[in-house]
Amino acid sequence: MFDSLERCLQLYEDAQFYEEEFEDRSYDIPFFLESARQCGAPVLELGCGSGRITIPIARAGIDIDGIDLSAPMLAKGKIKAAAAGCDQIRFQQGNFSQFVMPRDYKLIFCATNALQHLLENQQIDDCFASVRQCLAPTGLFVIDVFNPDRTKLARRWDQRYLFKEMQTQTHGKLSVFARSEYHPASQILRFQLDYRRQADDIQVKVKDVEMRCLFPDELDEFCQRHGFTIIQKFGNYQSDPFTADSAKQILMCRAAPTS
Ligand SMILES: C[S@@+](CC[C@H](N)C(=O)[O-])C[C@H]1O[C@@H](n2cnc3c(N)ncnc32)[C@H](O)[C@@H]1O
Repeated sequence: MFDSLERCLQLYEDAQFYEEEFEDRSYDIPFFLESARQCGAPVLELGCGSGRITIPIARAGIDIDGIDLSAPMLAKGKIKAAAAGCDQIRFQQGNFSQFVMPRDYKLIFCATNALQHLLENQQIDDCFASVRQCLAPTGLFVIDVFNPDRTKLARRWDQRYLFKEMQTQTHGKLSVFARSEYHPASQILRFQLDYRRQADDIQVKVKDVEMRCLFPDELDEFCQRHGFTIIQKFGNYQSDPFTADSAKQILMCRAAPTS
């Protein structure tokens, strides 16, 4: 378990690169902002990183805390929050698979597949149990993970493909090539991203990523086992209903009342 956390931390060591990679990604923010408006404060983001979603919620006047394991990501988040006039955000360094907070939250969310960094069932169970402890009685837990696509899981490691192109301030335009392999026994999708400068094909970064695939029925079972009722399940950030072909699984869960 220690090794997998270490590997995850390495992935987020270069917070500036993360910022540049996710700079254009804003299409998911309205979904979480609206959830926060509807639930009310306080709000907690698990795996808040550099505050890409946390800060817009705080800017809307909503009291929000964030937990993340990565010191560089949190440091970047604090700088960005100060620049945005959001010093009030409490960024806490910690592991969201086992956390205790001093207050209860009306909304706890875990965005951008962050939950899939927990590779073992026990870690996922611990995370659900921690959320249950820190959620206000009528609070909402929002889970946002990808819906495993069997065609993509069938890819072999030697099948390198162009994953995306991106513009960065530091390196100019990059092509990102990917290769992946899926391990059914552990349900871990391992992939490697190779970032190359388009101008001269020089490699500027390699990321080795491991993500635990959570299949729809299995995710529902995790929720049920921990006493959550799934009140809605969306397939994207536009709140369209989840179908087997949806790219995303976005679950809106309430803790079932204890008798
Ligand atoms: C894909 S990033 C998402 C960051 C941010 N939520 C966003 O949407 O831009 C995943 C984040 O989860 C954090 N993370 C992964 N595993 C974690 C764990 N067990 N405990 C706390 N943070 C974790 C990483 O450090 C990283 O900042």
